[in-house]
Amino acid sequence: FAGGPLAGLKAVVTSGPTHEPIDPVRYIANRSSGKQGHAIAGALRRLGASVTLVSGPTGLPDPPGVETVRVETAVEMRDACEAALPADIAICAAAVADWRVEAAGQKLKKREGGGAPELSFAENPDILAGLAGHASQRPRLVVGFAAETQNVIEYAETKRQKKGCDWIVANDVSPDTGTFGGDRNSITLIGAGEPESWPPMAKTAVAERLADRIARFFGSTP
Ligand code: C5P
Repeated sequence: FAGGPLAGLKAVVTSGPTHEPIDPVRYIANRSSGKQGHAIAGALRRLGASVTLVSGPTGLPDPPGVETVRVETAVEMRDACEAALPADIAICAAAVADWRVEAAGQKLKKREGGGAPELSFAENPDILAGLAGHASQRPRLVVGFAAETQNVIEYAETKRQKKGCDWIVANDVSPDTGTFGGDRNSITLIGAGEPESWPPMAKTAVAERLADRIARFFGSTP
């Protein structure tokens, strides 16, 4: 892969869900196959970048040539991203759980006579916002994802500003699109000039086109 347009650049990519333990045998998680994030890590690598993929639990193989760090929780994902800095590019494609559970040390037991346990939650770190607002090692290009079902462009632009990232890849996850777990994605790229709506295409094709856009960004930004 040496000598591609991204040679000499370092990228960190998050992918997959996070699992937040409730007790030693149970967890809560978001839905995410990791397909889009893993494809982006592979595509950046093929353009010559040196890539660290920080992945929550998925059934996917590690992309060739990509240093893959497997984590479970959001806190572990944040720490692994931090450890991967400095980086020129950060792409946050993971579906990070917004909250973690104040986990029990022992398996929760069903109660005599029924009744559900009370769970108490703590807020997880926002990894994307943390990288975009990093005090000392902010990557030059920070890209987030926004899963929306309506007013996609408007909500995604609001999210871009709130998170402080440069670009947002907004995907329409309305149930009829089959985006979740599927092999295809339909996205609008926000922040790289005028919003660009790409036709529905394979997640691997989205990854390649995004990697090309990133190469163009670095090619035109000395
Ligand atoms: O806030 P929301 O989850 O809708 O934002 C989605 C974007 O933020 C994605 O890029 C996701 O990877 C990132 N994110 C994160 N850490 C969190 C929550 C979201 O990096 N705790």
